[in-house]
Amino acid sequence: MPLRIKPKQTGKILIRNIRQLVQVRPEPVGLLRGFAMNDLPVLENAYLLIENGRIADFGRMEEMPVIHADETVDAAGRLVMPAWVDSHTHTVFAASRYGEFMDKIKGLSYAEIAAKGGGILNSAKQLEAVPEDELLDRALQRVLRMMQYGTGALEIKSGYGLSVNGELKMLRVIGRLKTLLPIPVKATFLGAHAIPEGMSKEDYMKVVLDEMLPEIASQNLADYVDIFCEKGYFNVTDLELLAEKAGKYGLKLKAHVNQFTSLGGVATAVKHEALSVDHLEVMTETDFEALERSETIATVLPGCSFFLKIPYAPAKRIIERNIPLALATDFNPGSAPSWNMNFMVSLACIKQGLTPEQAINAATVNAAAAMELSHEAGQIVRGMPARVFMTIPLNHYGEIPYYFATRPVDRIFY
Ligand code: NIG
Ligand code: FE
Repeated sequence: MPLRIKPKQTGKILIRNIRQLVQVRPEPVGLLRGFAMNDLPVLENAYLLIENGRIADFGRMEEMPVIHADETVDAAGRLVMPAWVDSHTHTVFAASRYGEFMDKIKGLSYAEIAAKGGGILNSAKQLEAVPEDELLDRALQRVLRMMQYGTGALEIKSGYGLSVNGELKMLRVIGRLKTLLPIPVKATFLGAHAIPEGMSKEDYMKVVLDEMLPEIASQNLADYVDIFCEKGYFNVTDLELLAEKAGKYGLKLKAHVNQFTSLGGVATAVKHEALSVDHLEVMTETDFEALERSETIATVLPGCSFFLKIPYAPAKRIIERNIPLALATDFNPGSAPSWNMNFMVSLACIKQGLTPEQAINAATVNAAAAMELSHEAGQIVRGMPARVFMTIPLNHYGEIPYYFATRPVDRIFY
C-alpha cells in the first residue's frame, strides 16, 4: 500500500448532492451528555466545500453559491460524515495472537490464556524481537487500513514493551506515526499494563514510576498515561501513585478500569481528574456516582466484549446517568482485534441499546473530547480541519449501524 505522507489535500474540493451531511455544528461543541447525546444535527440535500484541508463552507443545495472548485464530487445518494475518532487503541504491536484465538475457541478464558504465558506478556515477548523500523512499518500499514475504514484520528498506547527500552521503543514508533500520518495521533504511556516475568509488582511499579515516566516525560514521548487496574495486574494504590507522579509532569490520566472487576479505580481516577476511564464492563452504583459528578469521560469498548464474550458495558445507563460516553475499538491483538469503528457503532446499538444518534455522537464528538481534539476532529464546523468520509449509497445515517460489520465508506477526505 502506498504511504500517504502529510501534508495533503490542497486546493478546493466541492462535494455536492449529499443526501445527509451528518454532525454539522455552527460552533465546535465539547462534551455531550444526557439528552444532548440524542441530538445528531444533519443537513439534508447539502454541499460541503473543503479548502486546503479545512471545512470552508456547507449548506443546502438550494442555497449553494457559484463555486469554482479544483475537484467536484457528486455524492448523489450518499452521506458525508466526520471521520470516526478512535480514542483507545493498542495499534503498535508485533504480531497477531492467533494461537490464543484457537485456545479461546477451545474454551480457555482470558485469565487461563494469560496463565499459560499468553496474553499481554506474549505480545511483549513478540515485540522485543522486532526492530523499531519494522514495528513502525507494521503499525503504519494498520493505521492506513483503519483510515480506509473511516478513522480520522486515533490514540495509541504503549504497554507491550514492559521494560524501559521496550516502552521507549513503542512510544518512539507512535511519535514517528504522528509525523508520517495526515491524521492526529495521541500517544499514551501504558507501562503499567502487565507485570513482566521474574519481577514483583512492587519492583516493576518502581521502574514505571522512577525510570520510565521521567525519561518519557523528558523526551516528550507521551500525551497521557494509562494503567490496567485489575485483579492480578495493578491496583488502586498503583493507579494513585501513577496519577500523582504523572500530574507532576503535566500528563493527564486515562485508565483501564472495571473490565472484569470493580476495584474502586473509577472513583480514584475521577479524583485525579482522569480524562477518561475505559472498559467499564462491570459497574457498581459507587462507580456511577463517582462519574456523574465529574468531567471524566466513560469510554466503552464493545469490540472487546464481542471478542472475549464478556458482558457489554452498560452504555445506555451511562447516558441516562448524565455521564459523557465515548466509543472506541480497543484495537489490540489479544482482546479486540478489530479496527472497524463502523462495527463498534453497530455493537453499541445492537448490544448496548444505544440509538444511532447516541452511538455516532459517542464515536465522533465525545471520542474527540476523550483525546482533547474537540477543535480538530469529530464534527463538521467551518474552519475546522476537514476529516470526513463519504459513504456508499445510503438513505439515512441509521443504516451505518444497520449494515453491521461492513465498511460503508466510499471515499475518505483527510
Ligand atoms: O484493553 N485490558 C487490558 N489491555 C488490553 C488487552 C491487551 C491484550 O490482551 O493484549 C485491553 O483489552
Ligand atoms: Fe485497551
